[in-house]
Amino acid sequence: MAKSKTPKKAVRKKAVARKSAPKGKAKKAPTRGRAAGKKARAVRPPARKAGAKSRVTGGRELERAAKHFAGLMRKQLDRVERMKRDEGWTDYAKLSPVIIGVCGGDGIGPVISAQAQRVLEYLLSVERATGKVAFRTIEGLTIERRAKVRKAIPDDVLAELKKCHVILKGPTTTPRKGDPWPNIESANVAMRKELDLFANVRPVKVPEHRIDWVFFRENTEDLYALGSEGLEIGRDLAVDFKIITRPGSERIVRAAFEHARQAGRTRVTVVTKANVVKSTDGLFLRTAQEIAREYPGIECDDWYIDIMTAKLIDPKRRTEFQVLVLPNLYGDILTDEAAEFQGGVGTAGAANIGKRYAMFEAIHGSAPRMVDEGRAEYADPCSMIRAGAMLLSHIGYPRKARSLEMALDICGQYERRLVMTGRDTGATGAAFCDYVMDTLADPGLEQRWQEYVSSPG
Ligand code: IPM
Ligand code: MG
Repeated sequence: MAKSKTPKKAVRKKAVARKSAPKGKAKKAPTRGRAAGKKARAVRPPARKAGAKSRVTGGRELERAAKHFAGLMRKQLDRVERMKRDEGWTDYAKLSPVIIGVCGGDGIGPVISAQAQRVLEYLLSVERATGKVAFRTIEGLTIERRAKVRKAIPDDVLAELKKCHVILKGPTTTPRKGDPWPNIESANVAMRKELDLFANVRPVKVPEHRIDWVFFRENTEDLYALGSEGLEIGRDLAVDFKIITRPGSERIVRAAFEHARQAGRTRVTVVTKANVVKSTDGLFLRTAQEIAREYPGIECDDWYIDIMTAKLIDPKRRTEFQVLVLPNLYGDILTDEAAEFQGGVGTAGAANIGKRYAMFEAIHGSAPRMVDEGRAEYADPCSMIRAGAMLLSHIGYPRKARSLEMALDICGQYERRLVMTGRDTGATGAAFCDYVMDTLADPGLEQRWQEYVSSPG
């Protein structure tokens, strides 16, 4: 538009000026001289003057950017080497006790984590008594503390986390622009990277609609890997870095296929945007297709993220998906959409799994407003309890995990003898938790669940 308003002559001159535009300081100098200044004034409209200035600044800025980029890439290459030194998986059966760290986080986090801990302690009462499992409380992952030390995870908290085998983590506040907090990195994202929790496993089940999906979201790479280390070059250009590595892709894809094999699933769907984001998503997809060949009994198909978001809401197609594997950001977005089918992000738990550590969390935020308004005791602990069920399964108690999931389905979705509303018009988290534990104690639990699931509507 602007172009069409510019007289032809000016455009031509502009093009010439661009061609011979100074490349460095040496050529810039004459513009300060009288003759050069005259010439410049004659051909340059004010807008171009500004443009020329930013080109010069760009020279220095570009050098700084290139240096920054090289430093980042060196660190990523080191990380690739570390991944290749393939550590073995923790064998929980060999640990005694398995140490479960409960890290409340902030906002409603400590309240709902305490309820989830209560349920886990109930289900693991024998194992606690015989010393097979032990709980440990980890304090200090609050926004106040993190803001004070200006770290996503304070060093002492990180050291405590590393003394546990698995962690049940409450939501933590992620500062954003305009908040009173310094712009520190999200504690979840930092923990995923620090503990190398590369697989974010998010199941979504709606039995009456035959929805049974498990998402394997890559958790340490993509736009998240260097999310706080992007670049602003001058005022007008910003760059973030999308990192995909072959070993990083291999391990998440393998985790998805291994899960499919163990769970008797027949299909793994790879989701990317490799038609446009060719290098990174291309590498992810290619790697997935290579790994898929190791699993001849399991079908592997690939979809682009845009059509996948559409197909999840197509009742005819969505039931065909089983296990889905995808890079970090697409996984973040798609799993929120998917969770909506089973009642929203508040109902979903997530497992963040690495070879050495694992962390289980709710996928919603810390709801500081509920605390400010004195409603924290009415916060719904279901997603934390679901995360607890995943934790049980991960450390070797799949049957207890299954019972807990059935009890949660009955209490939260079907029978709903107590309903939580987030305020005093509904049940408290503690009362709801008692209801879940009563339901767990029912010897007819499975039959009760089956009846609800198989009854239409
Ligand atoms: C999630 C959350 C986090 C993420 C936020 C809180 C940084 O949305 O766990 O999905 O983007 O991963
Ligand atoms: Mg998310």
